[in-house]
Amino acid sequence: MANRKINHEYRVKLGIIGLGGGAGDMIPVFASHGGYEIVAASDIELDQLERFNAEFESSTYVEAERLCTDSNVELVYIATPNQFHYEHILMALNHRKHVFVEKPMTLNFEEAEVIISLANRNNLRLGVNVKHSFEPRIQLIRRMVVNGELGNLLMLNYWQYTDWLYRARTPEELDAELGGGVTWRQGPHQFDIIRTIGGGLVRSVRAMSGIWDETRPVPSCHLAFLEFENGVAATAVYDGFDHFKSEIFNIEDRDNSADDISLNHASARRRLANMTDSTEEIRLKASQRYGGVRTRGNSSASWVLGGPLIVSFEKGDVRLTSKGIRVYGDEECWEISTPADLDGRHGVVNEFYESIKEERPPIADGRWGKATLEILLAVRDSSDQRKELIMQHQVPIQSP
Ligand SMILES: NC(=O)c1ccc[n+]([C@@H]2O[C@H](COP(=O)([O-])OP(=O)(O)OC[C@H]3O[C@@H](n4cnc5c(N)ncnc54)[C@H](O)[C@@H]3O)[C@@H](O)[C@H]2O)c1
Repeated sequence: MANRKINHEYRVKLGIIGLGGGAGDMIPVFASHGGYEIVAASDIELDQLERFNAEFESSTYVEAERLCTDSNVELVYIATPNQFHYEHILMALNHRKHVFVEKPMTLNFEEAEVIISLANRNNLRLGVNVKHSFEPRIQLIRRMVVNGELGNLLMLNYWQYTDWLYRARTPEELDAELGGGVTWRQGPHQFDIIRTIGGGLVRSVRAMSGIWDETRPVPSCHLAFLEFENGVAATAVYDGFDHFKSEIFNIEDRDNSADDISLNHASARRRLANMTDSTEEIRLKASQRYGGVRTRGNSSASWVLGGPLIVSFEKGDVRLTSKGIRVYGDEECWEISTPADLDGRHGVVNEFYESIKEERPPIADGRWGKATLEILLAVRDSSDQRKELIMQHQVPIQSP
């Protein structure tokens, strides 16, 4: 997956906190963009810092605060586990660094509000890494909404069935209080994509989320009905129980029955069940961090294609395909290809760079991140209360 490297005159000096799997996917994109210079990293694990030193001649710190006080750092990319986002964002903003943080931005509104006003007060950029919303297929569908070529947008349905629960997990990923479970970890992408296509302004949410395996007691599925202010409706399903993988709906020319009986079926469950020692899962997760081996496809396309997304307009339906999107119009069908060498990560990293250069908020800024956070909290609360909840913190997408 090539980046389209441009030699930018202005290079933003970047420091990274948290060298895990998430950072491992992003670092090559920052490194090849041309507008960033990676100058520092922090991780509490010395092994991770050593791996980083083997690739970059940069400063390394065990303490995140020391990275934030490094005068060479202008921008801090925060990729620590979800429960540390607030602490690290606050640290970076207080030391007058721009911030680009992994999703979800924070775990509650109070934290979101503090950092949004601090970033504003210090005239700093605050952006959330909702990279899959920048995936070319999603951006193309958003452009179809804006230019109206298929009439008005009416409905979106996005359903994903994966093995999330049974992949190697840290204890915090299996604890909802610490931002674990599918709604906190996968929902930010799914709801961000739905908000991006629909324009941002969700009116209400009615949802169910469930804990179905008491040995891994964290919400591992959700089903949500969202209604936008303009009447557009959406459903979002995420099931991480590794019984069925819905990616099969987006793969053409494949024998579905063969896939169902292949070794791929329930492979994450089997691997977990075969682990003999309780530390094996932690070691496997650690081996997938920055500098290690990611066992799964890690492109935005592979995430986006994890299940059927069907977008209905007045004059046609659109679905995802392995090459781009397919449009089913009133009288004919056609395929539109999207660039295979461009990933959502390139889009979000480039857009954030432009926002720093142009001294304007990024598209996925703090207010946008807070609005997606509101949906995540609503999924949890609507499920608990068994009722529809009205949203109060939604913002429209900036552009396009
Ligand atoms: N956008 C994506 O597709 C994507 C993919 C994976 C992860 N993520 C996000 O990245 C974040 C991290 O997830 P992960 O799966 O990479 O986790 P991980 O456990 O693999 O990595 C976290 C890293 O942070 C380090 N760390 C923990 N506490 C620290 C501290 N106080 N100071 C410095 N370093 C510290 C750990 O040692 C580890 O190396 C989460 O917010 C997650 O949602 C995003």
